[in-house]
Amino acid sequence: MAAQAQTIFINGAWSAAASGASIDVRNPSDGEVFTAIARGAKDEVERAVQAARRALAGAWGSMAGFERGRILARLSQLILDNEEDLAQLEARDTGKPISQARTDIKATARYFEFYAGACDKILGDVLPFLDGFQVTVQREARGVVGLIIPWNYPASMFGRTLGPALATGNTAILKPAEDASMSCIRLTQLAAQAGLPAGVLNLVTGLGEEAGAALSNHPDVDFLSFTGSPEVGTLIQTAAAKNHVPCVLELGGKSPQIVFDDADAELAARTIVGVITQNAGQTCSAGSRVLIQRSIYDRFSALLAEKMAAIRVGAPAADLQCGPVINATQADKVKGFIDRARKDGIKVLAQGGMDASVVKTGYFVPPTLFGPVPTTHELAQDEVFGPVLAAIPFEDEAEAIAIANGTEYGLVAGLWTENGARQMRVAKKLRVGQVFINNYGAGGGIELPFGGVKRSGHGREKGLEALKEYTVAKTIVLRHG
Ligand code: NAI
Ligand code: MG
Repeated sequence: MAAQAQTIFINGAWSAAASGASIDVRNPSDGEVFTAIARGAKDEVERAVQAARRALAGAWGSMAGFERGRILARLSQLILDNEEDLAQLEARDTGKPISQARTDIKATARYFEFYAGACDKILGDVLPFLDGFQVTVQREARGVVGLIIPWNYPASMFGRTLGPALATGNTAILKPAEDASMSCIRLTQLAAQAGLPAGVLNLVTGLGEEAGAALSNHPDVDFLSFTGSPEVGTLIQTAAAKNHVPCVLELGGKSPQIVFDDADAELAARTIVGVITQNAGQTCSAGSRVLIQRSIYDRFSALLAEKMAAIRVGAPAADLQCGPVINATQADKVKGFIDRARKDGIKVLAQGGMDASVVKTGYFVPPTLFGPVPTTHELAQDEVFGPVLAAIPFEDEAEAIAIANGTEYGLVAGLWTENGARQMRVAKKLRVGQVFINNYGAGGGIELPFGGVKRSGHGREKGLEALKEYTVAKTIVLRHG
């Protein structure tokens, strides 16, 4: 079965890789291989790009917006109809607790619902110009788009990228992560069932350095969307530069949670620990640094420690607060951060506990709170992508802002204070793409434009803002005299 995995979808047909090669798929909860995916590469990407190009010239290219909208709405409904199956698949493939997987699948349906409604509302402008002229600016599809997504939220990333891509009339080649392709395969089946014409969505499973590199370097791809590591983001942007095409990059962060002395401590502590342990900390917008005003540092870090100690780690079916991380490499990476911080003499304030469902062969790491962490330490600067939280004290507003902005990243920030003037003053000074005040929605909010600055990337996905990325403006100047 392994060599025959038919997980590549091109021009409406499923196939194995031409090479016959496949990739084993492991369950992060026990490390066991449970299926395989096709190892698509250059040949498959070539065929997929050609199919997408043809589909653009076909019925899809001239379809009315409301008709595209109906297809996306049907897909949204099909996702809801299949929610439990999709959630079980996602949980087995990624290790996430089943409740989290269900939330993700609901979000996936919401993406298609949201963008279904946008299909017939891609508006242009009429511009004032000289007498005797009529100027319109219309938004056109970019054409063939390449979507390369990561393994942390595979289903919802499928919706986040494909929703706006299809709403605006593009055709797509989606390359899921080799570590978590299963829900994307199932979602692609549902998209075909919803009536998406052949070639509009093509799915190429495979390795990043093979299928991903072939897709990002392909000269006939008009736009790239990438979410993943900054290192690969650089490769994507270099490829985009060579081909003179735009790209959106979402490259993670070191997002601060800033807690002032007047904060609702209970709400803040509960939310902050919930967010860093959600999805085992593998969330690009996870708040992985907690900046605490010194006057409440001892009290608040003790409250955080209490909440962290109460976190239970287990297999998806146990449905606890935290599951395993995605693979052995990621587990080693996270444990490396924990070990080095200990060696550097940074105090462990609390660790979560392992449930009986945890087996040795699974990729489990203990959720850990460290503090105080010096601002120059790697725990305060680098993305761990695991359930590790660094507590950092600050004196006043100015220092909080300086520390918050003092990393190479700039994705999201959380602000915890009841002082209204301070809320807006600080929010305006943070160099990030989103600020949450007295709440924190890591990864959440289909409606909310999302993306970073600095090493966190550029461009915006989600919300109506994404529609701008997936379209290009054309200015038409008519002289009617
Ligand atoms: P990665 O950046 O290698 O993988 C993300 C996606 O890019 C996958 O689909 C992968 O197949 C693809 N890819 C890999 N190499 C490529 C290449 N040369 N050309 C085109 N596509 C390529 O991330 P990886 O290695 O799985 O994780 C490493 C670290 O990256 C994590 O520890 C974490 O810190 C960060 N990361 C951040 C994510 C985010 O949401 N911002 C998501 C995943 C990882
Ligand atoms: Mg990689």
